[in-house]
Amino acid sequence: MDQVAQVRERTDVVELLSEYITLKKAGRNFKAQCPFHTEKSPSFVVSPERQIWHCFGCSKGGDVFTFLMDYEHLEFPEALRLLAKRAGIELQQDRFLSGQASKKEAVFKINKDAADFYHFVLTKHPVGKKAMAYLVQRGLSDKLIETFKIGFSPRIGSGLAKYLSGKKKYTNEQLFEAGLATLRGSRVSDFFFNRIMFPLYDHRDNVVGFSGRILAEDASGPKYINTRETIAYHKGDLVYGLHITKEAIRKQNQAILVEGEFDVIACYKYGVSNVVAVKGTALTENQVNLLSRFTQKITVCFDGDSAGQEAIHRSLPIIEKKGLTTTVLIIPGGKDPDESLKNNELAFKRAAKHDENVYQYLLDYAMQKYGTDTIEGMKKITDDVLPIYANIQNEIIKEHFLKKLSVALDTTLESILSFSYFAKRRAKGSQSISG
Ligand code: GTP
Ligand code: MN
Repeated sequence: MDQVAQVRERTDVVELLSEYITLKKAGRNFKAQCPFHTEKSPSFVVSPERQIWHCFGCSKGGDVFTFLMDYEHLEFPEALRLLAKRAGIELQQDRFLSGQASKKEAVFKINKDAADFYHFVLTKHPVGKKAMAYLVQRGLSDKLIETFKIGFSPRIGSGLAKYLSGKKKYTNEQLFEAGLATLRGSRVSDFFFNRIMFPLYDHRDNVVGFSGRILAEDASGPKYINTRETIAYHKGDLVYGLHITKEAIRKQNQAILVEGEFDVIACYKYGVSNVVAVKGTALTENQVNLLSRFTQKITVCFDGDSAGQEAIHRSLPIIEKKGLTTTVLIIPGGKDPDESLKNNELAFKRAAKHDENVYQYLLDYAMQKYGTDTIEGMKKITDDVLPIYANIQNEIIKEHFLKKLSVALDTTLESILSFSYFAKRRAKGSQSISG
């Protein structure tokens, strides 16, 4: 029997899929909500007899390998390796070490060595002293620095490249491919220098890239720089911290979504461990899909500034599309969780326990911002929340909040409803109705 067949033989489709999705017995088969498209009633069927799965909604289907490939976005050799390991089968390596998958794994490996290098420089080398002092001043302990494997990229422009090609025998090509070095004229130069280094791990503990924060005093250049897109790093696929916090997220069935690396670390430090960061960018569908595998509820905890508010408005439809519950954690006393926790740990933790329904939050926020005592204000409140309310999928919840809006504006539900029709058309981008 060849090794692929052997691995398939030893991997039960029901057992494997149960690790990823919730299967319910249905006669001789099992049923589930399809993880590959959004649906209300389950049309995803798993057959233990035939050891296959099929979705009658989106017509995807296959065996244990294709499931893992689709679900985890893996190439075949990667899926094979994972399942072989799970089944306790040792593969004859060389046969499968070809193509994209092994290329990606090669990048993981060089990134891991780079992370070790940066971490060593920060924690053991005199060159890292200043960065270390900065991190201590920001409240990071040795243990936290270890947990998140934080490092420092030296000021001298090719320390890492020299280490990786000299001691570790990587080729320059490999350095370029991982985004760790660039060519400056004819010289190989590090991509990151003089920055605090945060290795970016995927949820399976691979180092896919880095983000580097400038040292406070040397304030030229962008505050953060990320690895450019490589075969291993796609910024819209990653949330920061998940490799450490995923168990807490699963256990509490809630992911607190913050903006930055330091926010994740501060939350973790104070025991609010079910946290991940979007890293300042707009939330993507891939990020929500990833989180939806660990939790049914996302609690957004963005900075209180207008950019943060804007981010909530933009994130909401993406989270809702996946059918997850959205709540808001209102940050007390500080611009971000990091500051807030430093100022008043208990107040932040209290706020974390009393996360607010997002629809209520948006109404409260708009009412506070625009006020209900002028026509102008009422119009702005309506413009803000009505397009969102009109798109609430659950009719009961929708009516509940439309009623709230009508009470807030001292009008009738009927007039709101007649309005909400137009708001819906507007929210869907229809150009045919104006005003
Ligand atoms: P600290 O001062 O380090 O605590 O950062 P912050 O998290 O308070 O900063 P800010 O609110 O400005 O940014 C939030 C997150 O957005 C950061 O943690 C980064 O992940 C990301 N970010 C901030 N500035 C930049 C930038 O200049 N470029 C990129 N690519 N990302 C950034
Ligand atoms: Mn901050």
